[in-house]
Amino acid sequence: MKNSRTVHVCSIFPFLLAIVWSGFLGVDFSSGQTSQVFRLDGGNSTYAFGVNERGELQPIYWGGRLGAHDVLAAPHSMPEMASFDSPYTTTPQEYASWGAGLFTESALKVTFADGNRDLVLHFVSGKAAGAGAFEALLKDISREIYVTLRYSMDVESGILARSAVIENREKQAVVIEQAAAAQWTLPTARYTLSYLTGRWAGEWTLNQEPIQGGSRVIESRRGTTGHQANPWFAISRDDSGKSVGPFAAGEEHGEVWFGALAWSGSWRITVEKTQLDAVRVTGGFNPFDFGYQLKPGEKLETPIFYGGYSNHGLGGASRLLHRFENAHILPQSPNPKPRPVIYNSWEATEFRVDEAGQMAIAEKAASIGVDRFVMDDGWFGQRKDDHAGLGDWYVNKEKFPHGLKPLIDKVHSLGMDFGLWVEPEMINPDSDLYRKHPDWVLNFPGRPRSESRNQLILNLAHPDVRDYIAGFLDRLLTENDIAFLKWDYNRNWSEPGWDAVPVEEQKRVYVEFIRNLYSILADLRKKHPKIEIESCSGGGGRVDLGILRYTDEVWPSDNTDPFDRLSMQDGFSYAYTPQIMMAWVTDSPHWRNDRTTSLTYRMLSSMDASLGIGANLNKWTPEDFATAKRLIAAYHAVQKTIVQGDLYRLISPRDGSKFSASETVAADKSQAVGFAFANSTEEGRGFPLLELQGLDREAQYKLAWIEGKAFPGTPEVASGDWWMHHGIQLDLRGDFQAAAFRLDRQH
Ligand code: GLA
Repeated sequence: MKNSRTVHVCSIFPFLLAIVWSGFLGVDFSSGQTSQVFRLDGGNSTYAFGVNERGELQPIYWGGRLGAHDVLAAPHSMPEMASFDSPYTTTPQEYASWGAGLFTESALKVTFADGNRDLVLHFVSGKAAGAGAFEALLKDISREIYVTLRYSMDVESGILARSAVIENREKQAVVIEQAAAAQWTLPTARYTLSYLTGRWAGEWTLNQEPIQGGSRVIESRRGTTGHQANPWFAISRDDSGKSVGPFAAGEEHGEVWFGALAWSGSWRITVEKTQLDAVRVTGGFNPFDFGYQLKPGEKLETPIFYGGYSNHGLGGASRLLHRFENAHILPQSPNPKPRPVIYNSWEATEFRVDEAGQMAIAEKAASIGVDRFVMDDGWFGQRKDDHAGLGDWYVNKEKFPHGLKPLIDKVHSLGMDFGLWVEPEMINPDSDLYRKHPDWVLNFPGRPRSESRNQLILNLAHPDVRDYIAGFLDRLLTENDIAFLKWDYNRNWSEPGWDAVPVEEQKRVYVEFIRNLYSILADLRKKHPKIEIESCSGGGGRVDLGILRYTDEVWPSDNTDPFDRLSMQDGFSYAYTPQIMMAWVTDSPHWRNDRTTSLTYRMLSSMDASLGIGANLNKWTPEDFATAKRLIAAYHAVQKTIVQGDLYRLISPRDGSKFSASETVAADKSQAVGFAFANSTEEGRGFPLLELQGLDREAQYKLAWIEGKAFPGTPEVASGDWWMHHGIQLDLRGDFQAAAFRLDRQH
């Protein structure tokens, strides 16, 4: 080892974060000798990689935090174990390009102008790139293709942000057929994979399965994130000695590696177990129909793929992600405001909005303590139903003869702020905009334009479309006092043609569309710094860490059935913080399952997230108003703990469970809030004993009921140890019953 040295790249936390490298200078690949090792530490984890004797950048370690002075040896490529097991395939790489003898998933695949498709990336140089950040430059062995791998470690959570920038310094264009953001390599072990799938009005199903030989592909080919799968994964180690059984993804124990891709376009995550049992995860742009032409001098930047490690099971992994999202991803990070309690008109009035009707409902919403009144679809253009109007963003004069001002003023006079629904990327063929600009939609000329919900998609990659959308939104926010936009997106792509640019550039639409979406959102927020935005796509079709950099909350599902929501909210919480998870209380019986539930049950189901009301208040009784008012006040008092505290999923509602329960604990452990739901009790059996978690062991906590009660004998004040070890015996029986309580630390 030569020139051995340690460099602290973060002077504030030199003990928390260091990049250690040795032999950094004077690398001579041709000699076949190098001993460069790069290491990033953060939270409870360490990530290390280095240059092997062939000059490839090879992962060394990803897992629990290592000692500050532990020495990591330089990596070595695998020997040829058989003529069928090429070392190019068996040696893991930080970013494997398709070339040489690679048969496993590649991070990068290109076609050169002369037909050559072989690309072999070797390490050129590495440098610190700010606090906790590192950049490694790779280059093809003969051609002028450069790849910069970016790493940035969060000191608190140990969550590592990885991305790549691909640069063409050749004299001719190349076509990028596949470009991942990152590849992650796990220790060789037995694992359980967790991932989220769904459909419209049925999002957030947690799937768990053993990782076996071959590949499991989680993806969207829809041009957008999609309801059907979400770009998140977690991999739990089955044989860590802390888990039990052959298939044991522990909730609060065991090692878990997890990741989330920050991209709102077509994406793909491939989880692979190679023929030698190595487990790797590759994620980035979806290579399906991908073909990004990179001209000489151009660069393609991939999305960021975040990855983290927890040794406290899936619960620990979620808590790390939640904290990270609140601290680093959201527009209001590091201190996002708990979401205002909203009222939304959609389920009550659908498209039938007008000035008098909305004013009347607004009065009722204000009377129960709602903070924000949101008018949904139907206020613009010739919008009477979903056949017309999208694209024509002027106020409908029949419904609002004096514009939006009288309604907004009324809402303000009632002490609420005002929010509005928009669906900027969409267009109905029955609209003035389409009649004027039929060429603005995604389409292949001369081919049919498939409609969904009677709408087509505007091609945001087109600069004129981008300007039109940015312009109308800016005007809307300048002319009206609007605090919040619900930004909807109600279909997926079809016929994704872009004939305004040369043929070889047309597939860039997969990237440019999303970039322009992000830039419209960024510019809008810059010009209107007070605006808050919800990402909705017919429910949870666009929830990812990319859109969440520009949006404050999301609409997880159009399905507002309070019982269905328990499983969805549970699934959602594996990847995303309750801070962003809107949940409305709507009418009963519910349209989705025809299920009848009490208002209290519906309220509690939604209070276990960011609360909203979407019921038809014109049908409420005085008792309903009193119940909602009481529970909204109780919610306001503990909301920060619920949405930003540490979440413990005590009893899972999944897989037909009869019960579910969750608990959130404030960061300083001064408060905890618990929710419990009985789907159906049988044969007099009661609710399972609730043993709480995460409390300050020795502190005294006072129990207060928001709703429900415990069995006689439950103390009013007891230690954290009592609540965690003895637990609470809830008195909760029947069908669709709910309870909620708070514990406050005594001084
Ligand atoms: C989507 C949304 C709904 C509602 C309607 C309006 O389905 O998810 O909440 O806004 O559009 O058309």
